[in-house]
Amino acid sequence: MRFDIMTLFPEMVMGVLSESIIGRAQEAGVITVKAHNIRDFSKDKHRKTDDTPYGGGRGMVMTCQPIYDCYTHILGELGEGEKPHVVYTSPKGRLFDHGVATELSRYTNLIILCGHYEGVDQRVLDEIVDEEISIGDYVLTGGELPACILVDAVSRLIDGTLPEAVCHEDESVASGILEYPQYTKPRSFMGREVPEILLSGDHAKIDRWRLERAVELTRERRPDLLLLHPEKEEALKPKTKRKRTRTEDGAAT
Ligand code: ADE
Repeated sequence: MRFDIMTLFPEMVMGVLSESIIGRAQEAGVITVKAHNIRDFSKDKHRKTDDTPYGGGRGMVMTCQPIYDCYTHILGELGEGEKPHVVYTSPKGRLFDHGVATELSRYTNLIILCGHYEGVDQRVLDEIVDEEISIGDYVLTGGELPACILVDAVSRLIDGTLPEAVCHEDESVASGILEYPQYTKPRSFMGREVPEILLSGDHAKIDRWRLERAVELTRERRPDLLLLHPEKEEALKPKTKRKRTRTEDGAAT
């Protein structure tokens, strides 16, 4: 999968995405991430990328031309083929979650436009953007951090990014509810012990204990998730045995 990020701060984006697992996924060729500096496409003699808003008001608005030219440059790099999906990171967008990340992971090419200042001229958004995505109900100073969050969350769903394919199945929210607590060595830390059951080697009991803790934590912190996934709590209930009845000729059913 390839990500193209249109931004005024390419170093900021690439700095974050060159580290750790996402950096390694790029080195391994599982994903490609390229940041494009919108300013490089400005035809203004001072390389301006913003202007005052029509109708008055505070702040500056990003202009159409450099963004549009940056976009067509990316299309040129991608060549023929499937049209890339274009996302604009904005607090006005649909809320990002695991489901949205899964949807986005199905595209081969994703272009992300990062906004700044008071916004972006609506006409270029109408021309190139397929959807706006928000990472939460708060306003950041720019779309770069949201873009990094999108790339990170989507990339880890791509086969080959995480060391084991199963890793993301168990984790908080990906499985539908919050993840159980984890422990590693040493067995004792500041008088706090690792729960005995995790040392028992009884994997059926450990699995059950983990599910109990996950359900307990979710009930406490995110009861809304349990309403969406009642099967998690159901799995903890003792299985009721089906009553055996006898037919008229005495055979058991
Ligand atoms: N840009 C500024 N704030 C944002 C947010 N909450 N989500 C996505 N993009 C943004």
